[in-house]
Amino acid sequence: MTAPAKILVVFGTRPEAIKLFPVVAALKADPRFTPVVCVSAQHRQMLDQVLEIAGLVPDYDLDLMTPGQTLDRLTAALLTGLGKVMDEVQPARVIVQGDTATAMAGALAAYYRQIPVDHVEAGLRSGNIYHPWPEEVNRKIIGTIASLHFAPTDVSRAALLAENVAPDRVHVTGNTVIDALHWVRKRIAAKPSLADGLEGLETLFEGRRIIGVTSHRRENFGGGMEAIAEAIRRIAVRPDVAVIFPVHLNPNVRSVMNERLGRLSNVALIEPLDYPHFVRLLSIAEIMLTDSGGVQEEAPALGKPVLVMRETTERPEGVAAGTARLVGTETSVIVTEMFKLLDDKAAYEAMARAHNPFGDGNSARRIVELIGNEIGRKA
Ligand code: UD1
Ligand code: UDP
Repeated sequence: MTAPAKILVVFGTRPEAIKLFPVVAALKADPRFTPVVCVSAQHRQMLDQVLEIAGLVPDYDLDLMTPGQTLDRLTAALLTGLGKVMDEVQPARVIVQGDTATAMAGALAAYYRQIPVDHVEAGLRSGNIYHPWPEEVNRKIIGTIASLHFAPTDVSRAALLAENVAPDRVHVTGNTVIDALHWVRKRIAAKPSLADGLEGLETLFEGRRIIGVTSHRRENFGGGMEAIAEAIRRIAVRPDVAVIFPVHLNPNVRSVMNERLGRLSNVALIEPLDYPHFVRLLSIAEIMLTDSGGVQEEAPALGKPVLVMRETTERPEGVAAGTARLVGTETSVIVTEMFKLLDDKAAYEAMARAHNPFGDGNSARRIVELIGNEIGRKA
């Protein structure tokens, strides 16, 4: 019998951890593999929140985050740090997810060692290298390197084929975020105390309509963040609403939001929520207002209308399904679209229908099966 194949799973930020813990679990459950987990800790506290709820203890933790890190310094540290781990582990394959600096540097370090890279959440394209920035280019770099491309939907598969990726290298698997969402909802059902911490706010805001907000995009730093904050301020002028906004730890987000929104009685700026509590926020919110990638995937799955503060999206499936709407980052447009949803019941109900364009919750199992086939084919 051949020894299990060592698979190095590399990630560093909150969304990568959420989308990869189901893959690590599926690898662990399969005797053909020995998963080795390396976190860059490009995020620290927000990564640790996910590791804790998933019960995941990394084999390697590079602890790379520095406050207010720049892209070039971060990328340089990632490339050398991840390369060293690869030299030590000598994995058969490397798995990366999505489009962060960690994912891109992980793919590049593996390529420099001629180790095949498997890309989870492959083929997302906005067509604009500055929206989202720098993720669109990170994805393209990983797409050039990857051996297996796990596209969440037919749309992302088509984008890869249009870039001449060989069709037999691209597999539509769904998005592992739905696996994570199902897993955490089951955990909450079994142990409700995992998601009870919003209750103080729920009492405080009783009778008001809750709007959940997240925002962190680098391309919005500066003017974009100011415009978003101003939109939230104007929305919160309405006495019938309350905003719950877990603020990303990036200082470029926190400084603007604290200054502009910190003193409003019906805007709660809170610390980042762990995943179960964020899922609770998704369930109590009437509307989500966000520039996040992951929230655009979770909201449609839960039938929660989501206004997306971006000019363009690499996740058109939520828009096509009718649950997501692009509102850009102009204050007046955000406010108008929010008021429309709050005041027009028919418009709200047209959006509030559950769709699952991003998968059925079995993506991780499919991905691991496909990697197994690939290894079997080569043996
Ligand atoms: C990163 C990813 C982005 C992803 C986002 C998810 C890149 C270039 N950006 O953006 O694609 O959508 O994560 O949230 O890969 N910080 C903390 N503690 C934390 C996390 C962040 O203090 O747990 C602060 C630090 O000051 C850090 C800064 O936020 O330097 C920025 O973190 P970074 O990972 O560079 O960028 P994000 O904006 O979080
Ligand atoms: N999320 C969370 N706590 C929060 C905000 C978000 O657990 O306070 C989760 C959310 O459910 C989603 C992911 O984090 O799965 C999205 O992360 P983020 O918006 O930071 O990154 P993106 O998806 O835009 O890359």
